[in-house]
Amino acid sequence: MRRGSIVRMVIYGVLAGTVASLIAVLVPWLPTSASEEMDRITFTFWFTTVICIGIFAIVAAIIMYCVLKFRAAPDDERDGPPVHGHTGLEIAWTAVPAVLVTAISVVSAIVLAQNDDPGSDPLRISVTAQQFAWSFEYPGEGEQRLRSGELVLPVGRKVLLTMNAQDVIHSFWVPEFGQKKDAVPGIDTTLVITPKRIGSFSVVCTELCGLGHATMRAPVSVVSREDYDAYLARLASPPRGGGGQQGAETGEQVFNAAGCGGCHAFEPAGSDSEVGPGLDDLAGAAQNAGLGLEEFVLESIVEPDARIAPGYQGDVMPQTYETTLTAGQLDALVQYLVEGQR
Ligand code: CUA
Repeated sequence: MRRGSIVRMVIYGVLAGTVASLIAVLVPWLPTSASEEMDRITFTFWFTTVICIGIFAIVAAIIMYCVLKFRAAPDDERDGPPVHGHTGLEIAWTAVPAVLVTAISVVSAIVLAQNDDPGSDPLRISVTAQQFAWSFEYPGEGEQRLRSGELVLPVGRKVLLTMNAQDVIHSFWVPEFGQKKDAVPGIDTTLVITPKRIGSFSVVCTELCGLGHATMRAPVSVVSREDYDAYLARLASPPRGGGGQQGAETGEQVFNAAGCGGCHAFEPAGSDSEVGPGLDDLAGAAQNAGLGLEEFVLESIVEPDARIAPGYQGDVMPQTYETTLTAGQLDALVQYLVEGQR
């Protein structure tokens, strides 16, 4: 091959590589990492991308060179010259990709193993997914478990999330944490997260789980260790209110923990979702049902398909609240809703 040809191919390769690199670097493909696991995933992403850009530049250079150099004249109807295989070339284009793909597999396997390793003493938090809400259970003093509708994590501590689902398959994902795992009924799945950046994020459900799938989110806060301890202390001694007994959650806390706002608009709670009927004006519906307001609200929570509000479908709201909420919590929730009527 002449020197001029090689110089031209190198120029084409550099051009193609530069364009591909600019697209890779200038477009924000990944969210800014907030966990050590995401850092490793980001590294794997760039490791693979750099290899791909190199291969792309070589292939693009050869194609551009051939298209321009060996272009047939419009009236040239002859067959091309018969060319047989080139053993050296074939060995090279088999061996080089094999080495690169093996390198990507090794890096991915190491990252997967590290990202699944909870270490010797992780903070254990249970995650419960249900249509269409997330709830979280933190270890308190001794055997005590503290529930919340918000995921609060101390920065710099390895966390082992154990996930389960109460109805259908959901999937836990916080984009800035990188890691993602399905929550499956009947199976406990786990996910390791080591938050490294203080901030507010959002759990996103990434498994189509029903009408309210798009609204199935929960707030995540990464806070300092002191703030985490303070948060747990607050969970352990909630302000008394509603109809709850000592230690029971307030109606508002139950509303948030059970994820009611994921589907229902309710002004006192600041929710505005329209998956299910709004809860600000229930008197008319109670009257139509021939029930007292409290009675109607309770029935609607524990037996949601007994009456379907006009314009909505049955079989959407979970029918499990009578078992997943305690009597005290149910009572507090009913009072909260009744007191919040317009
Ligand atoms: Cu839960 Cu989608």
